[in-house]
Formats: sequence, structure tokens, C-alpha cells
Amino acid sequence: MDYEHAQKKLKIYGQEHLLRYFDTLSEQEQCELLRQIEETDFSVVRHITKQQTDPKKDSTITPITVMTLDKIQEKKTSFTQLGIEAIHAGKIGAVLLAGGMGTRLGSDQPKGMYDIGITKSVYIFQRIIENLFDSVNAAKTWIHLFVMTSEKNHEITRDFFEEHHYFGYDKKYIHFFKQSMAPASDYHGNIYLEGKGKLANSPNGNGGWFISLKQAGFLDLMHQEGIEWLNVFSVDNVLQRIADPCFIGATLENNYQVGAKVVRKNHPDEKVGVICLADGHPAIVEYYELTDTLRNTLTPEGEPAYHFGVILNYLFEVKSLERIAKKELPLHIVEKKIPYLDNQGNIVQPDQPNGYKFETLILDLIQMLDTCLPFEVIREQEFAPIKNKTGVDSVESARKLLLENGIAL
Ligand code: UTP
Repeated sequence: MDYEHAQKKLKIYGQEHLLRYFDTLSEQEQCELLRQIEETDFSVVRHITKQQTDPKKDSTITPITVMTLDKIQEKKTSFTQLGIEAIHAGKIGAVLLAGGMGTRLGSDQPKGMYDIGITKSVYIFQRIIENLFDSVNAAKTWIHLFVMTSEKNHEITRDFFEEHHYFGYDKKYIHFFKQSMAPASDYHGNIYLEGKGKLANSPNGNGGWFISLKQAGFLDLMHQEGIEWLNVFSVDNVLQRIADPCFIGATLENNYQVGAKVVRKNHPDEKVGVICLADGHPAIVEYYELTDTLRNTLTPEGEPAYHFGVILNYLFEVKSLERIAKKELPLHIVEKKIPYLDNQGNIVQPDQPNGYKFETLILDLIQMLDTCLPFEVIREQEFAPIKNKTGVDSVESARKLLLENGIAL
């Protein structure tokens, strides 16, 4: 894209200020800025003034049937057997979502590189590979692992795996792909600059993972390899089971389009999304959307009806994902602290939110599908998220849970 075209594009969205330092840049910086302008979808800022497009708005919310621990126990052996057969037949792939910025943890490196060890190094990525190995060993076959990164952490993540020899995994089965970026703006929709030749941008949320995987050409690989299911999971749960045969067996046996691991909330206000039905479709109500009425609803058995929280560990049927791939996910507009260049050309690191980032979320994919199996897991054994340094869902709490589960740190 040349300067004139960039100017034209920016004018449409009222973002001409992004070229104000253009003349002061080196030729290479100018090219880089023009490339960014070409690749950026500026239309997202128009959503600031639009009504939020929450797909659950005005839907009727009802409880969903959860496969609880006692039900799972009854069929554990046959589910596990079916899951192992599916893995052994190469039908299962895994997708690690590692494109996030991990701002709450406050490390300037990718979250997966965080060392949670006490007497020795134990990296988050290492824990993930160790967990994956459980299923690889049980099924006696490698499982393809697709790792989503972003422009901000791609090289460093890849290099880290390489330096650590993929923690013993066969590197032929580990594939990295980048998610897209979205611009960040002030409250009026003016995109920030984070350098004289650089737009402020950030990863566009974890909702676009399948599109990014496809754009990177890995759908073809999955077709070649006969991968029919993808276990998608977050980077920060250091206790989660990956490609868990029992979970796979339960989802496959009952022909669900997606399985979702869930835990019983530890108190009604726990900050996890709650699984339910919205107009008969599986859906997740975020903790901040849960009304008092929903919070207080009981099942006929007297149990809280909206009591099972998702832990970001899903098993998606690839065929169903391909069917819904063209549908647009709702855009979430999130208030954040965004570093920016002030009028004097100095970089400012705000200590209060100063604008918006634009994201799509994986939880909205669930509502596009027709059937979902919520599959209960024991939280003390499978849920140790690391969001913060200390306190709730932190390095501290995860370490405690890891030690309780016999994992040496
Ligand atoms: P979180 O919502 O916890 O975000 O991501 P985060 O970026 O890790 O942390 P904060 O909110 O900045 O502190 C849940 C999962 O989704 C991934 C994360 O890497 C994590 O595995 N994710 C999030 C992406 O892959 N891309 C994104 O754009 C956002």
C-alpha cells in the first residue's frame, strides 16, 4: 500500500492522525507503518457507538444437563477405551491458545515461559507438554499440537520450545501459527499510536483461533492426517488434562458437536463463565452477566441451576467448526490500559484504563453449535489457572494445587 492509499483508507474511518509522524520516519519504518495500515481492520471502532451484539441478549436462559462425576464414573472404562482408540487412530489434535498478553500476571514474556518451579525450573509450557504426554503414552501415538501465538510473542515462543528441545516432544508434531491483531483506541474510537511508526494493537481475542489455524494452512494438514476433533485449551491451567481419553470418549459416544470441561463453582460469585442453554442452544453466560435471578435459580432437586463453570478446555468437532467458520463472532469491547504516544511524541504507560481493545471470544463459538456436552471434572485435580502473581488464580494457588497433586516443583 502506498501513502495515498493509506491516507484514503484512514479518511474513511477518521484515523488520519496515524500518519502524523510519517515524514520523520526512515524508509523502512514508513513501509512498516503502511503495511500495518493495510492489514488493520479499522471498522471495529464503529462498534463503540453500536449496541453491543451479545448473542444471548433477549434469549431465554435455561439449565443444561451436565454429565456429572457420578455419571462419568459409571462409564469411565468404556469412555476411556473409546477415547484411546480415537487418539490412536489419529483423530484427535490439540490446540494451545497462547496468543494472549497475560497482562494480569505482569511478566513481559509469554505466559507459557513463566517458571513456576520452586527448587527447580518448571515452565508453564513444560507442564502442558508433560500433561499431553499422559495421553500420548496411553494411546501410544503422537498427537499433533497446534500452538497459537500472536505477532507480539511468536518468535520468542518458538525459540523457547526449540531451546528446550520441545520438552521431549517430537517437534514434527508441534505447529505454531499466529492469530490476528486488532487496533486499540481511545474512548472516542481514535486508534492510538504506540510509536511514531506503529499503531497500538493487540491480539484480537481467542475467538478467532479456528480461522487463524485455517489461514495458516493447517486445516489441510488436519484433513490429510484424518484429525476429526480438536481439544482446545488455555495456556494457564497447569493441572489440566489434555486430549483426556475419558472426556473424548464421552463426547464421541454421544455424538456431541463440542464437549466442555466444567467445574462446580466454589462460590456463587466465582469469576468463571457458566454453562447453560440460550434459546435451546448451548451457551456460556459470563460471570458479570449472571443476574440475581439466574444465580438463585434451583433445579427440581434443589441444586443451583447455573453452577457449572467452564475452564477453557473444549473438544470441538472439526466438521462442525468448518460449517460455522464463516459466521461472524460478536465483538467484545474491553476497557484496558493502552500505552500510547502523547502529543509531544512521548510514550505514556497509563496506570488507569484509557481506551478499548476489541476481541472475539471462544465462548461465543459454543452458542453457534447445536449440542454440547458439559463434562464435570474435579477442580482440585484439573483446575489450577494462573492469571495473577498472588491471591486468587495465581502462581501461589497453582503451586499449592500442583504440590497437592504430587507434582514436584
Ligand atoms: P485470558 O482471557 O486469561 O487472557 O486468556 P490473557 O491474555 O492470557 O491474560 P490477561 O487477561 O491479559 O491477564 C485465556 C486464554 O486465551 C488465550 C490466552 O493466551 C489464554 O490461554 N488468548 C487470549 C489468546 O490466545 N489470544 C488472545 O487474544 C487472548
